[in-house]
Parts: sequence; structure tokens; C-alpha cells
Amino acid sequence: MQLSGKRALVTGGALRIGRAIVLALQSCGAEVVVHYRNSAEEARKLSPFSVQADLSDPEQCAGLIQQAGPLDILVNNASIFTKDTLSAATPDRVLQEFQVNLFAPMVLTRAFAVQAGQGAVINLLDRRIRCHDTSCVPYSITKKGLEELTRLSALEFAPGIRVNGVAPGPVLPPPDSPSISLSEISGRVPLETMPSPEQIADAALFLLQADAVTGQVIYVDGGQHLLGNGV
Ligand SMILES: NC(=O)c1ccc[n+]([C@@H]2O[C@H](COP(=O)([O-])OP(=O)(O)OC[C@H]3O[C@@H](n4cnc5c(N)ncnc54)[C@H](OP(=O)(O)O)[C@@H]3O)[C@@H](O)[C@H]2O)c1
Repeated sequence: MQLSGKRALVTGGALRIGRAIVLALQSCGAEVVVHYRNSAEEARKLSPFSVQADLSDPEQCAGLIQQAGPLDILVNNASIFTKDTLSAATPDRVLQEFQVNLFAPMVLTRAFAVQAGQGAVINLLDRRIRCHDTSCVPYSITKKGLEELTRLSALEFAPGIRVNGVAPGPVLPPPDSPSISLSEISGRVPLETMPSPEQIADAALFLLQADAVTGQVIYVDGGQHLLGNGV
């Protein structure tokens, strides 16, 4: 896919990794609709096209693709990250995390496939899909589910729509815990370097342009997924 002249929707695109993906797409000549929940000002600074929706609300989620207009590309980036063990997780928090991280990408991908007919989807996963991290159980389940959804939707929506995933390692500390240093949360990284948001965006651009690739996941994590739980 040539990105120039294409129209993309990036969920949670106003800040951090989403913002890097928006800027990378724009630098290739794509028109980007920036979805946001709270970050209206940042979204509007990035693009003349922005759209608000709370993805924990199924109704707002269902209308988002139509609101964004005719699309060629969907990037499911918006996410909640809660450090919850199974014992600590409350039903409300679990349902919210499932809704935003897994159910929303499912609904958006389905609506995108119907609307676009032809195009490409990128799902933001996490290198934790290769390990068993008991410190964030609901989050890990959502990202493992999203990995499977990547493959299932790649099969169901071929040949018109390609669906791929990018699985980052620790790139930025969680927005609600900015004081945690990356070295505190990163553990061992074989390449001894953390990926940048721009490197995550590069992988997304590659997959969007790789016309023979679907159902694939690229890990951008300095090799951390190779260690399984040994981090
Ligand atoms: N950061 C990392 O190191 C890392 C590591 C591995 C995987 N990832 C994955 O990479 C992606 C981007 O990571 P990130 O750290 O940049 O994400 P993030 O800052 O945690 O979240 C991205 C955006 O999601 C939006 N969002 C959250 N709840 C929402 C809701 N209920 N409805 C609509 N939007 C909602 C927020 O938009 P508003 O600001 O507009 O409210 C937020 O800015 C995520 O899928 C994440 O799981 C990140």
C-alpha cells in the first residue's frame, strides 16, 4: 500500500506512541484522523481531523468509524494499562480494560472492514503476549486476545483487508506513573536499549506497506520477548 493520499484513523493518537504513529503517517503523505478521549487540544494540534470517543462505551465505539469518514487504514492503539494481579483486579476495572483494549478493536475492525472493503489494520500489542506476567493479568489477557484477533481478522477479512500487529517492549512509563524509570520496569533487554516511539511507528509503517504480509506480529522490544518470563 502506498501511504500517500490514504486516510488513516489512529485511536488514542494524541500522545506518546499514538502521536509518533500519527506523525509518521503524515510524513508519508497520509491524512490522519486523530481519535482521542480526553486529549482534545493535543489531537487538534496534530491534525485538522480529530474525533472524540470513550472506547469504554460500546455505543460511542460503534459509531467511531462512520464519524471518522472513509478510511484506508485503522490503527488500534488506544489502551488502558492497569497493574492488577488476579486477586487485586475488580470486576469494574477488568471489564473496562477488556472493553477498551480488546472489544473496541474488535468492533472497530469489523466496522472498518465493512466500510473500507480494501485497506490495512495495525493492532498495538505488547511483548508480554509471549510471557506470563502475573503483575498485570487483565491487561495481559487483553493483549493476548488482541494477538489472536489479529490472526482471526486477517483470515476473515482477506483478501481485501490486511491485519498485523506491533508488539512493543517498554517504551514509555505508564502515563499515570511518570516517575517510574524505564530501567525499573524494563528488566533485562538483550539489545540493551529501549525502543523509541518512532521505532514502534516505523514497524507500523513497514507492515502497512507490506502488501504480501497479513496476520503477522513484529516485536519491537530489544529482543525481550525471547526471554519469556526470564526478565
Ligand atoms: N508505553 C509502552 O511502553 C508500551 C509497551 C508495550 C505496549 N504498549 C502498547 O502500545 C500502545 C500505545 O502505548 P502508550 O503507552 O502510548 O498508550 P497510553 O498512553 O497508555 O494510551 C494511549 C491513549 O489511549 C487513550 N485511551 C485510554 N482509555 C481510553 C478510553 N476509555 N477511550 C478512548 N481512548 C482511551 C488515551 O487517549 P486520551 O489521552 O485522549 O484520553 C491515551 O492517550 C498501547 O496499545 C499499549 O498497550 C505500550
